[in-house]
Amino acid sequence: MRAKARAYTNIALIKYWGKRDETLFLPTNNSLSMTLDRFYTETSVDFDATLNQDQFFLDGHQVDHQEMKKISTFLTKVRSFTGEGRFARVDSVNHVPIAAGFASSASGFAALAAAAMKATGTDFSKRELSQIARQGSGSASRSIYGGFVEWQKGVEDDGSDCYAVPILDQDAWDLRILSIEVTHEVKKVLSREGMKRTVETSPFFEGWLQAAAADLMEAKQAISDRDFTLLGETLERNALRMHATTLGANPPFMYWQSSTVKVMEAIQALRMEGLEAYFTIDAGPNVKVVCQPEDEQQLLSALNKLAVVKHIYACRIGPGVTYLDV
Ligand code: ADP
Ligand code: DP6
Repeated sequence: MRAKARAYTNIALIKYWGKRDETLFLPTNNSLSMTLDRFYTETSVDFDATLNQDQFFLDGHQVDHQEMKKISTFLTKVRSFTGEGRFARVDSVNHVPIAAGFASSASGFAALAAAAMKATGTDFSKRELSQIARQGSGSASRSIYGGFVEWQKGVEDDGSDCYAVPILDQDAWDLRILSIEVTHEVKKVLSREGMKRTVETSPFFEGWLQAAAADLMEAKQAISDRDFTLLGETLERNALRMHATTLGANPPFMYWQSSTVKVMEAIQALRMEGLEAYFTIDAGPNVKVVCQPEDEQQLLSALNKLAVVKHIYACRIGPGVTYLDV
């Protein structure tokens, strides 16, 4: 049976940074994101009794052994959850730059989870889908839903209370996100490896956990009150706190490049001039800027003047997973 799904990337306002269980992808803190409307993945899955191993084609090409292993491990989780016995052929197309901090793993595993679950022919809820997607890549648990989404860390060892929940609909608050590309080089420390090293070696990790819990409360309050200033101040602070933990790791590492810092400084300077915008950065050098609709054009023209800026993708808040005809 064949099925096809589309999932959009999301950008964390309160970051997921650290796992308490690496096999089940259980995080050490709750995170909160906005799903974007611009970057997405479309994936089709076909469970086929004639195959003797899984196959994965990304943008038309067969992937290397290490990537194949990740996909096959994930499909095995889907098989054991549903009782599906066959191997699958997976075709995926990313409409998102890969491994540059634009969250291809979030849309990638959310689309794969949705298509694979549907292709097994079993019934499943969105909550179950979020739990399955989580086990491909943690941030993928949030891309099941559109709008603003919270991923709850849960406390159970088996992950049964660890899933994402929608907290505000896509159309309820019109914010804009400018995804700024300063480089399209592939990052050196993948988020998975970076957060593991931080948990194991950074003395700042304990402080991060306390700060992230407080930041989450403020961000949720800001969303409920539609208080843009509070949300912006909280998200920018939370990103800086996450990145501070990497400097304390052993060996230390840093996702920023000088161009990243130039954009951060520009945003802070524009804010001093009265243009309200806030930045956030994931596990890569590129920067995302959150602003209100009325400031978007002015920000675009100011940021496009920076020599370090290669490209700006203007995004809005996007939808959750959708199923497509095969
Ligand atoms: P980013 O999310 O910043 O692009 P990550 O390191 O978090 O970078 O994710 C990159 C990884 O996501 C890839 O190595 C691959 O394993 C996975 N990935 C990317 N695209 C897809 C896809 N379409 N389907 C499944 N997995 C994908
Ligand atoms: C910095 O979800 O890519 O983007 O669960 O190991 O696949 P794995 O990690 P991933 O990490 C995302 C980290 C982040 C913050 C976030 O998206 O919350």
